[in-house]
Amino acid sequence: MRQPLVAGNWKMNGSIENIKELLDGIKQGIKQGIKQGIIEYGLDKGNSVEIVVCPPSIYLAEVHSQIKDSAISLGAQNVSDQASGAFTGENSVSMLKDYGCKYSIIGHSERRTLYAETDQFIAKKFAVVCEAQLIPIFCIGELLEEREAGKTEDIVSRQIDAVLDVVDISAFKNSVIAYEPVWAIGTGKTATPDQAQEVHAFIRKKLSDLDADTGAQVQILYGGSMNASNAEELLGMPDIDGGLIGGASLKPTDFLAICNAANATVNEKESLV
Ligand code: 13P
Repeated sequence: MRQPLVAGNWKMNGSIENIKELLDGIKQGIKQGIKQGIIEYGLDKGNSVEIVVCPPSIYLAEVHSQIKDSAISLGAQNVSDQASGAFTGENSVSMLKDYGCKYSIIGHSERRTLYAETDQFIAKKFAVVCEAQLIPIFCIGELLEEREAGKTEDIVSRQIDAVLDVVDISAFKNSVIAYEPVWAIGTGKTATPDQAQEVHAFIRKKLSDLDADTGAQVQILYGGSMNASNAEELLGMPDIDGGLIGGASLKPTDFLAICNAANATVNEKESLV
């Protein structure tokens, strides 16, 4: 049974004031849920959901100190492919580790399209992140015109193959993939549960064909306008192991509702095993 994971990608949002409000809201919700015995959060709690927040890098230290005694894990939104040196504006894996990051998002479509990050460049970051024993949240997904041209599987395959050119398939065992159809990001247009499941199953089969254990273990998240109302249906699909949440991760009640939906689906999925 794969543990569900819900990660909030705050993107370039937030301020010192509202980060505290947001984290207090999430921590409060977690405490309440545990007290009521309806939810158990955190890595040590069997298969219950792991919650991750990915703030802008300038706030990593602040968030790190605010979540120290909570069940929330920390992730970065991006990382350098280099270890250190003259790379103005970049943050290295060791810097992320200094502030308690467990995860780093890499290859987000906004990095791919707005900052021209290529498959090969992202693959290099994937290798660097794994080598540092951080966990990549590796984003893949097709543009609207690619979906309309029936190219979705070719695109996600190409994005995965670039990584497989530089790391062994086993590296995916301890990695997270986020399938984020670009046309669903920030648009309010979510993939239907069937559309998402189809691509998730394709990704898992692709990896399983190379190594059955890796395919069975890799967590595959869905991202793209997931919110409190559509989360349960999406997360209930057999190959959707969690969510990478943008807009809805900035509101504690919405974010917690998605985390609760992930927990609710664990029991349903366990009963199917
Ligand atoms: P939205 O949830 O705002 O569509 O963003 C998804 C996303 O890009 C998460 O990385």
